[in-house]
Amino acid sequence: MTKRPGKLGTLGVMKLSPRLRLLHALEGKPLDRPPLWLMRQAGRYLPGYQSIRAQHSFWELCHSPQLCTQAAMEPMERFGFDAAIVFSDILVIPQALGMQVHFDGHEGPKMAQPLREASQLQTWNAAKLLEALSFVPEAVRHLRGALGEEYGLLGFGGAPWTLLAYMLEGHADKNFAVARAMLHTQPEFAHRAMDMLADILIGYLEAQCAAGADVVQLFDSWGGLLGAEDYARFALPPIQKIAKALRANNRRLLLFVRDGQHLLPLLAECGCHGISLDWRIPFHQAATQLPQHCLQGNLDPALLLSTPSVVREETRKLLAAMKARNHYHRCIFNLGHGIFPQTKTECVSALCEEVALAD
Ligand code: CP3
Repeated sequence: MTKRPGKLGTLGVMKLSPRLRLLHALEGKPLDRPPLWLMRQAGRYLPGYQSIRAQHSFWELCHSPQLCTQAAMEPMERFGFDAAIVFSDILVIPQALGMQVHFDGHEGPKMAQPLREASQLQTWNAAKLLEALSFVPEAVRHLRGALGEEYGLLGFGGAPWTLLAYMLEGHADKNFAVARAMLHTQPEFAHRAMDMLADILIGYLEAQCAAGADVVQLFDSWGGLLGAEDYARFALPPIQKIAKALRANNRRLLLFVRDGQHLLPLLAECGCHGISLDWRIPFHQAATQLPQHCLQGNLDPALLLSTPSVVREETRKLLAAMKARNHYHRCIFNLGHGIFPQTKTECVSALCEEVALAD
C-alpha cells in the first residue's frame, strides 16, 4: 500500500495517513475526514472469505494467524479502509474456558453445555486462559506485519455481559431470557462471573494492544436487552474495570452497544474513549448526549443490500451530521452493526468512495 502525498483540506488540515486519522479521531485531534472501517468487514459477503471457508472450518480459520491475516486483508485490498480488524470471534473466550461452541449454518452459535452454577467458575484460571488465547495476539502481530505502519489496526473482545449471556443461554437468542432471569435469581454468581471475565479481558485486550492493535473494541451486542438499572448494576462495572486498567497503560478503547439508546447517559461513564452507536439513533442526537466522546457509527447495515445510489445519499447525510460536529471532531465512520452476509460489494465500494470525497 503506497503512501499518499500530503494535501491541504478545506480547513487546512493536512491529508492524514489512515492510521493517524483513526488515532486523531480517538484523541480529539483535527481530522481531514472521518476514518472509515466497518464492523465485520471481513466475512461471508466476500468471495475470498468464502473460498477460505470452503477449505477450513471456522475455528481452524480463527486459530491460524496466516488465514486470519488473509481474511482481514481482503477488505483492505478491495476497498481501502483506514483500518483493519483482526479476524477472530468474541466466542473464543467461552471456547478457551472449555465450552464447546458450534456454528450451525444460519442459526448462530450453540454451546453444548451452558454455564449453570457458581461452582463451574472455580475451574477458570486467568493465566492458563491467556496462554490458550495467545493465538489471537499472534494473529494481531501477523496482521500488523502484512498491513505495515500506515494503516490502523483494531483488536476486540466481547463485553462481559454479552459473553455471559451466550454462556448462560447456550445459544444466540433474541431475548436471552434465561440469562436475564439469572441476573436476578443468582446475582452473586452473575457479578462474580462478569468480574472474572473483566480480568480475563484486561489481559486479553492488553496482549492485543502489545501485539500492534491501535485500539480495542468491546462488543456489547446484547447490552440493549437490559434496562438502564440492570445495565448500571451488572454490565457497566466490569466494563469500567477493563477501561480503567487499559487506560493505565495508555491503551484506547471503543464500546459498541447494540440497541443502547436508553443507555447513552450511562455509557458516558463507561471509561472508554469512544462509543459505537447502533443505526437506530440519529447521529446528531447522540452527539448532543455524548459531547465529550468519540462517536462511531452508524449507517444502517441493511442499506448495503440496496443500491449504490441509495448508499451514496445516506452516506452523505451521515457525513453532513459528522461535519456539523466541529468538522468531524471525534467521529469515526462505520455501520450501526455488523455487515450482513447478503451485502452487495458495489454498495460497499459506493460507501467508501463517498467517505473518501469528504472534506
Ligand atoms: O471483520 C471483522 O469484523 C472481524 C470478524 C468478527 C467475527 N465475529 C467473525 C465471524 C467479529 C468482529 C465478530 C464479533 C462477534 N461475534 C460478535 C459481536 C458483533 C455483533 O455482530 O454483534 C458476536 C455477537 C459474535 C458471535 C457470533 N459469531 C455469531 C452470532 C456468529 C454467527 C452468525 C453471524 O453473525 O455471522 C458468529 C460466527 C462468525 N464470526 C462468522 C464470522 C465471519 C461467520 C462464520 C461463518 O459461517 O463463516
